[in-house]
Amino acid sequence: MASGVTIAVVGATGAAGQTTLKILEERKFPVRELRAFASERSVGKTVSFRGEDIRVARVEPAAFKGVEIAICSAGTAQAKEYAPMIARAGAVVVDKSNAWRMDPKVPLVVPEINPHAVRTHRGIVASPNCTTIVAVMPLKPLHDAARIRRVVATSYQSVSGAGVNGIDDLRQQALAWARGEAMVPRHFAHRIAFNLIPAIDAFAPDGYTGEEWKLINETRKILEAPDLMISPTTVRVPVFTCHSVAVNVETEEKITAARARELLGRFPGLKVWDEPAQGRYPMPVDVEGQDDCWVGRVREDLSHPRALNFWVVGDQLRKGAATNAVQIAELLLAT
Ligand code: A2P
Repeated sequence: MASGVTIAVVGATGAAGQTTLKILEERKFPVRELRAFASERSVGKTVSFRGEDIRVARVEPAAFKGVEIAICSAGTAQAKEYAPMIARAGAVVVDKSNAWRMDPKVPLVVPEINPHAVRTHRGIVASPNCTTIVAVMPLKPLHDAARIRRVVATSYQSVSGAGVNGIDDLRQQALAWARGEAMVPRHFAHRIAFNLIPAIDAFAPDGYTGEEWKLINETRKILEAPDLMISPTTVRVPVFTCHSVAVNVETEEKITAARARELLGRFPGLKVWDEPAQGRYPMPVDVEGQDDCWVGRVREDLSHPRALNFWVVGDQLRKGAATNAVQIAELLLAT
């Protein structure tokens, strides 16, 4: 497609939407025309793409005429309504919300893991939850090599995973702390500055949060491993960008830590940084702004003969959201 495609970014003013615009530029995605959409309150504002100001438009069917790919990060309720409408207008929708991920007719794609799934789309392709993407990347090469039986995963999720309001809450509270003022939560249910919140979203009657169930169900769907046992705990931490996950995996075949490092290091989209004695292990401040997920602290589980522990960090606005969506769009162009 030498002349490029007409692409829509829905939620273009949000944290993931802004990163999507940046990544389309960085990866030199062949854009002929870019259309930006957000909520009613942003209509008429501008967003920047390749040095040009693009006016934000209202989401309505006529506005999608001629759009070939629409990358949406406008929230779950919006995606339920918009995605079928945009698909009917003729575009393929790459949706980053939770609306369509577990629909059996919608592929849920991490391009390094299950690129084949994209071919089954009927107008909508879902991009997984940001924590799921960061966690599933290192699981794939280990699963292929030794069949994973059980995963215990604990996440440390940054505030930008909750969008611009999450970023603002941490910033305002940190400023208030520096001025000796009260730290008032506006977005999160509790104070986030200098605190940890072990609840990302609503609790189900079983005591798990929606976020924890996403990690279970989406990981199984992406790895095509419906019986994989996953035990998750997800936690919001006072970090601006990057989600980190502490993972324990039990495999059918034993893998040594050295073999695991080798498998992880040659998997596309993963980097290993694992020299703990030298103080070298991935941390959010180092991984922010990168597309690769970084793995460290790889070690054999002292309590189990066929289990490993490791730590993985990914920029959830990039690989956890925008980069993954743009990679899906690249796959759509290639198929
Ligand atoms: P707006 O900036 O006008 O509110 P974030 O995840 O960072 O909070 O961003 C959410 C994105 O989704 C923003 O671009 C936001 O636009 C957009 N959005 C929210 N509600 C709607 C809606 N009803 N229609 C279209 N876009 C929406």
